[in-house]
Amino acid sequence: MRLDDDEQKMLDGAHGELVQKCMKILVALGEIYGAEKMIPVNNVHSPGVSYRVAGDAGLNYVKDASKMGKFKISVTLNTIGIDSERWKELGFAEDFSISQLELLDAYKQMGAKEMYTCTPYLTGNIPYYGEHLAWGESSAISFSNSILGARTNREGGPSALAAAVTGRVPAYGYHLDENRKATCHIKVERRPNTDREWAILGYYVGSVASKDVPVLTGMEDINPTIENLKAISAAVASSGAVALFHIVGITPEAPTLEAVLGEQYKMVTFDDREYQKVVDKFTYTGSVDFVVIGCPHCTINEIEHAAQLLSDKSIKADMWICTSHQTKKLADKMGYTAVIEAAGAKIICDTCPVLCPTSSKGYRVIMTNSAKLAHYAPGLWNVETGLIETEDCVKAAIDGRWGGIKK
Ligand code: F3S
Repeated sequence: MRLDDDEQKMLDGAHGELVQKCMKILVALGEIYGAEKMIPVNNVHSPGVSYRVAGDAGLNYVKDASKMGKFKISVTLNTIGIDSERWKELGFAEDFSISQLELLDAYKQMGAKEMYTCTPYLTGNIPYYGEHLAWGESSAISFSNSILGARTNREGGPSALAAAVTGRVPAYGYHLDENRKATCHIKVERRPNTDREWAILGYYVGSVASKDVPVLTGMEDINPTIENLKAISAAVASSGAVALFHIVGITPEAPTLEAVLGEQYKMVTFDDREYQKVVDKFTYTGSVDFVVIGCPHCTINEIEHAAQLLSDKSIKADMWICTSHQTKKLADKMGYTAVIEAAGAKIICDTCPVLCPTSSKGYRVIMTNSAKLAHYAPGLWNVETGLIETEDCVKAAIDGRWGGIKK
């Protein structure tokens, strides 16, 4: 691997032990993946920040690093394991919460911003087209690569920290033009309308593309919302390992099919039959004890919609609306939080059911509008899940049961 003078100095220890250790990690990664050089970066979104995922090993790793140095560039943090402001009131376990706060303190000491969300692009960390990043969190990676046209590999906690300390990433994977060409062409005949339908399409795309880069056609005249694009970005990365997808006429690297299609590719069609297979996978009817929207974290529009649906209602099942604390502050100001909480639902900040220790509550069923949550929840907590529209999530919470979609 070719290093420039500054990078070589970092590797030789001229900038201290932490920088040297981090550069060694990046060089080792670069060698594994055949990188020829490093790329400068100014933007890190670090995963592995939930104490549920990091554990004591992660906590000690970051605490040790925080005693040795600081971040060189801007760092935001992914979703954590508690609501950082209301953890006591919401009943998060004290010992878990204290360890989580310790981990955050170590990151903050190094210079990380207090932004604990899987949608950093909604709260101020907005990459520009072509910008090289070191981001973690699968849904945010696919959103930034695909929707924004930025360039990141899937960073883990240690490699994100190394990038934050050095301002470098090894040049491989999605940083390179040749790895951004589509290798799977998906003709979309069953076109999505709602967020749930975008999530269903994404779930199909992830399952057929796996590690390929898919390009979708047949959607050129659709005018998607940010919520639609957030839903598909999360879904492609849960049923498969898709970190980059293109939609002709919608995503910035795909003005035409020819612009983005590689020389070798497979071809499949998403039709009513494939749509129904995903729907059937996540069908549940019966009593409901937990309803969640906000995976990935809600936009202010989604919270407004939930407030409209919950206005003057009272819910029987527990209901979480997950978002960042920046977005909740706006919801507070707009009066949405008061309406939602008057109905008995909760706006939970900074965390989500996948990254906090919710399993201790003993829920049996989770209804959600998120394909990602519907995919992961059964394996994490041995629950049944149903993937339904936002309006139906609220209905299921009000009734404490779900009778199914009327055909
Ligand atoms: Fe975000 Fe948690 Fe879903 S991190 S994408 S809300 S699983």
